[in-house]
Amino acid sequence: MEQNDIIPMPRIGDRAPEFRAITTQGEINFPVDYKGQWVILFSHPADFTPVCTSEFMTFAKMEPEFKALNCRLVGLSVDGLYSHIAWLRTIKEKIEYKGMKNIEVTFPLIEDITMQVARAYGMIQPGESSTKAVRAVFFIDPKGIIRAIIYYPLSMGRNFDELKRALIAMQAADTYSIATPADWRPGDDVIVPTAGSCGVAKERMEDKTGEMTCYDWFFCTKPLPLEN
Ligand code: BEZ
Repeated sequence: MEQNDIIPMPRIGDRAPEFRAITTQGEINFPVDYKGQWVILFSHPADFTPVCTSEFMTFAKMEPEFKALNCRLVGLSVDGLYSHIAWLRTIKEKIEYKGMKNIEVTFPLIEDITMQVARAYGMIQPGESSTKAVRAVFFIDPKGIIRAIIYYPLSMGRNFDELKRALIAMQAADTYSIATPADWRPGDDVIVPTAGSCGVAKERMEDKTGEMTCYDWFFCTKPLPLEN
């Protein structure tokens, strides 16, 4: 494929494009190495830049929380490996920011100087920059399927509480066959999917378990078991 050929952007529901890459933690075979785990694959525009530094420190601080949710983090920029290593060392040795210090980034950061991976994932968006990746976030499930995608411009740091909230919402949807309403937070009531027939709908409105709240036949909520 030629450098300027248009590569279709991956979409929700697609299989995550496969690649092998060099990272700060050695070679990875993606997404095969992550089978059975969720992965957040994210790109940043450039090493040694302030927004990206604040993001990496936050991601590294939260990594144990993502691990506890069976989710691994994988970063990417179109910089080379030695730049990545030097930047992460600077972060650890020199940067103190918002109470975070001595922060060690132990998740893999992909070197992608050829932009091969960034292009395959639609992370190079020339209207924003043709030499840097935008801030893309791909949520990939344990079967290697892309489940959510969020893109941010170069100037805007990501909201990491939202990334964690989105992951928990998708995991809850998978486990309990529910949906989550606007601004849902873990612990809030969830949406019971609409049943197919009017008879069932009427039953829903007259829920005998007492755990559902129905606002109309098509809109019922219920709590999840406590740990969610
Ligand atoms: C930053 O991370 O600070 C940044 C990177 C590229 C463009 C603008 C800001």
